Amino acid sequence: MNGSLVVVDDVAAAFAQLVVDRTAASKAPFSLAFSGGSTARECYEHLAHEAESPIDWTRIDAWWGDERCVPLEDPDSNYRLVEESLLSKVGPLASVHPMRSDVSDAADLYDRLVRSAPPIDLIHLGLGPDGHTASLFPGSEALNAPVHRFVVSNVDPLGHNPHARLTFTFAGIANCRSAVVTVAGASKTEALHRVLDGDLSAPAAHLANEDLIWLVDTEAMGSRSAR
Ligand code: 6PG
Repeated sequence: MNGSLVVVDDVAAAFAQLVVDRTAASKAPFSLAFSGGSTARECYEHLAHEAESPIDWTRIDAWWGDERCVPLEDPDSNYRLVEESLLSKVGPLASVHPMRSDVSDAADLYDRLVRSAPPIDLIHLGLGPDGHTASLFPGSEALNAPVHRFVVSNVDPLGHNPHARLTFTFAGIANCRSAVVTVAGASKTEALHRVLDGDLSAPAAHLANEDLIWLVDTEAMGSRSAR
């Protein structure tokens, strides 16, 4: 497995502290790419509470690492998830870049937007029970996206994950200065062990950012929880 493995009791709290520390250490504007999923929602709700003091959100540029191709107000939208759990609670940001899917060339537009901006400082990713991260699903076309593409459209060929998607590619994730993967709960143990063992059939095992942090809880670690 690439990166640093950090086993914690509370993934959401550890994530919030990481973001507070990283943004505080940066004097320039700081760009964050958000994830979807229930673990991410808990992380952002925790971050919103942490943000009562140390984060100057007017310095933060918000991006998304993946999105479902639904209206932004749809209950399944990752934009709505972040809006509800965080953005609605912390006041104005420097910029907010939702992944809009209501245009036919949505992936091309977001790809150009991301590539025209400086590298994203920190991308937040989750881990699915099937080993996916962002919307890079096992056996999906996006796993083999051209190396010059940072964002593509994708679907789960096995149908385990709903909706057509927009997603960062491995190259797009690797272009981010840092990546943090949050993994919580026993349902992720098998996928996490595959990643720990370097099983490349798990897309998340391909993550290779120089600064890559795995924040995992003891439930997800399962039998390997020995610290
Ligand atoms: C999505 C997410 C996805 C998520 C993982 C983990 O749009 O669904 O980006 O990659 O992070 O599936 O989700 P849970 O935390 O809900 O298990």
